Amino acid sequence: MKVGILTGGGDAPGLNAVIRAVVKIGDAWGAELIGFDDGFRGVVEDRWRRLTIADVTGILRDGGTILGTTNHANPFTYPTPDGRVTDRSALCVERIRSASLDALLTVGGDGTLTIAHRLWKLGAPTIGIPKTIDNDVAETLSSVGFDTAASVATEAVDRLHSTADAHHRIMVLEVMGRYSGWLALHAGLAGGADAILIPEIPYDLNAVAAHVAKRASLGARFSIVVAAEGAKPRGGSYTVLASGTAAASERLGGIGARVAATLEQLTQREARSVLLGHLQRGGPPTSSDRLLATRFGARAMRLAAERRFGTMVSNAPPDIAVVSLDQVAGRTRLVPSDSDVVAAARAVGIVFGDEPSLGGAVSDTTMAVGGLQQ
Ligand code: F6P
Repeated sequence: MKVGILTGGGDAPGLNAVIRAVVKIGDAWGAELIGFDDGFRGVVEDRWRRLTIADVTGILRDGGTILGTTNHANPFTYPTPDGRVTDRSALCVERIRSASLDALLTVGGDGTLTIAHRLWKLGAPTIGIPKTIDNDVAETLSSVGFDTAASVATEAVDRLHSTADAHHRIMVLEVMGRYSGWLALHAGLAGGADAILIPEIPYDLNAVAAHVAKRASLGARFSIVVAAEGAKPRGGSYTVLASGTAAASERLGGIGARVAATLEQLTQREARSVLLGHLQRGGPPTSSDRLLATRFGARAMRLAAERRFGTMVSNAPPDIAVVSLDQVAGRTRLVPSDSDVVAAARAVGIVFGDEPSLGGAVSDTTMAVGGLQQ
């Protein structure tokens, strides 16, 4: 058996643990393993290497990916040096065929898995393994990297508590999460934030300010807000740092500073923002991510042996299940409005900025800044 593996999209802690599992299993089976460099770019440009036990020894606890990755190597819209895009999908399928690969394991988020699905439809033997710190891949409870990112963000919330308390401030932590708020939600709840802003629940900062004021009236000297980078005000849009081009995706960011400035004006309390950024994606994976990555790798190798292509491994406790890429491609897993995590957060007093009873109930300062751009 000859199996290829690539990692695509943004990196996530645990990618190396997947590669290690796949190579160790392949070695035990006497299979040949090859790794493509930099996601699908390595397939298009025919850049790959044989992977042996020596390549994966000691990488279980390493962040990043020994194969490299890129966001900008979609074979269907492959960027050309002059800024245009061209279709390299047929070339990809041909490369996989001429390399005599029995299976190509594609480790990635929604973008990579959608490409894997399309290539499978063209005849390539792809199998998906979900990874993303955003946790927004459809049909799996979690993806490789999410637990680590949520743990890092939770620690940041923990650390913000003491400085917020000491200075009697509002601290706004901006975390990643483009279109889904899983990371902000989990870190906010696990860290004991006072407000969580996520893309799925458009916010009104008057409601958050009213909550801060209420906390203050009860003696709390500080408040902590966790905002997903993709959070948006009611009737508004998310905050774009740089718009997308043929060779680069749209970059979000800046919501934390924006929210802090508005809350400062609404509450007349000092506010600061912290951008956690790529710290959430770097460093060693948690034990949960190492476990998930290893279980995903093992299940994916079995799928390869069974020649079950166009599939993806999925975390469906207590099992690692198998779903069709048909159910995954082009879809995003959002926080449902009836999520029990949201309900639990609300039950312990965390606000999301959509509380009608709180809006406008801040103080006279609300009136003074009414109509502020959020
Ligand atoms: O999709 C994962 C993610 O970390 C998002 O949360 C974030 O918006 C994006 O990647 C950042 O990508 P880059 O590192 O390419 O700027």
